[in-house]
Amino acid sequence: MILIQKHFFMLNKYSGYNSKFYLKIGTRFVYQINTKKFLKTTINCGQPTYETHPHLLCKNEVIPGIKKEEFLSRQRSLMRSVVTRKSDVYHILVIPSAVRKYMSDHIPYPFRQNSDFLYLSGCQETDCALVLFGDSDSNFSSTLFLKPPDPQAELWNGPSSRADDASFIFGVTNGKILPQLSSFLTNKIQNHKKCVLWYNQKQKVQSFVDKTVNSVALENKIYINDSLDNHCHKLRLYKSSSEQKLMRKSCQIASKAFIKAMKSTKPGSTEHELYATIDYECRMGGAEFLAYPPVVASGINANTLHYIDNKQKISNGELILVDAGCEYHGYSSDISRTWPANGKFTDTQKTLYEATLSVQKDLIEMCHARSSLDALYDAMCYKLGKALSEAHVFKKNVQDPKDLAMLSRTLCPHHVSHYLGMDVHDTGTVKKNIEIESGFIFTVEPGVYINQNNNFVHDEFLGLGIRIEDDILVTDNSIEVLSANCPKEVEDIERIMSISNN
Ligand code: GLY
Ligand code: MN
Ligand code: MN
Repeated sequence: MILIQKHFFMLNKYSGYNSKFYLKIGTRFVYQINTKKFLKTTINCGQPTYETHPHLLCKNEVIPGIKKEEFLSRQRSLMRSVVTRKSDVYHILVIPSAVRKYMSDHIPYPFRQNSDFLYLSGCQETDCALVLFGDSDSNFSSTLFLKPPDPQAELWNGPSSRADDASFIFGVTNGKILPQLSSFLTNKIQNHKKCVLWYNQKQKVQSFVDKTVNSVALENKIYINDSLDNHCHKLRLYKSSSEQKLMRKSCQIASKAFIKAMKSTKPGSTEHELYATIDYECRMGGAEFLAYPPVVASGINANTLHYIDNKQKISNGELILVDAGCEYHGYSSDISRTWPANGKFTDTQKTLYEATLSVQKDLIEMCHARSSLDALYDAMCYKLGKALSEAHVFKKNVQDPKDLAMLSRTLCPHHVSHYLGMDVHDTGTVKKNIEIESGFIFTVEPGVYINQNNNFVHDEFLGLGIRIEDDILVTDNSIEVLSANCPKEVEDIERIMSISNN
């Protein structure tokens, strides 16, 4: 009923409904008085809601799996993070949404929301902004600035959320239209003696918001604090239990897709077909899209770290390195596996693969609290060198830990881990040397890439490329491998590949 009271000023006669029995709430919702229920509306609100897409969302969820309360609690935590001590200072936090981008005239790319904005609002609209305003985590408001109604744009792009509906759909305090942003900010600054304006200048997410914030700051001679992304990333680093569930599911979907891809691999097929299998299976599993352009690299293509060409024919006897993940309701998985095109590792391939796998498993055991992503990297450098040396991959007998680490760095030029969540390389402003804590999710992904000019290894290993990447959730009691269903033991891969998809 709180919502009803909030919207009381908006009640009016709803066409087609008798106003004695029904109340119109905002622009698009109808409340049935005698049953005390909101009627399912077939009117699209700009993004799926419980009312229009009950197969995707439960009651009170703003995006699948995340309830209104959680968004409020995220906003509160962000306020707590920026307000260092209670004083008479007011804080204005401006977070822009992403804009629609076009691949060519009037042809949009699939839209992907700015993660900080989505994290705080749950809003999937383009060209809008969220503003938090207050002096503490117990005294603040959230205002969502949405696009003004534009029937011509809606004819092409479909309905968009209305400012009137913002508090109902998103649980924000109120909604306004984006052209009101400038006067809103000016008003707050001029009516409060001490204000801090928080806005991330490093990445220009939306030029309208960027210009507005900068010109308001200039006109009112107010300094812009540029570290809002850092505050937001620190919150996003700790995955809540609902986020953990979404991440678990994202990893499960991708793991299943990998199994299908392994089963469908055969010499003579193409990297492109494996890409298509993974894309198809992820979407059929419920993911919106792949989390990034996948690497599907057969043979020596695996030595190109960001190989996304994915057009080569797969030859008998080659290994295939696939790095792929999906985005499930805003949460990304990121998995790499390497398997033989014909379903059976050669002895040489197996030697290199087993060495990499043993290091990867050792590193996962180290993923407890008090370790760090950088500590994993340092451990990888030494352990990988040692494992390859023991497997007689190098021509010379290398023993010195420094030499082993140096060799590893040349064979694996990337870090072994990054945080994972809404973004694939999640919370990029958070350092990798901080201690791992309960709720962190990150990858463990050692690789070995031996290009054909390498002089340190025996010839039989030249051209091979291997990466094994899992997604790890650390909690107080466990190290959970979210991608555990994706096979990585040699016997498991070979067994799975001997069973056809049909
Ligand atoms: N797929 C990108 C990465 O593993 O970092
Ligand atoms: Mn990764
Ligand atoms: Mn990856």
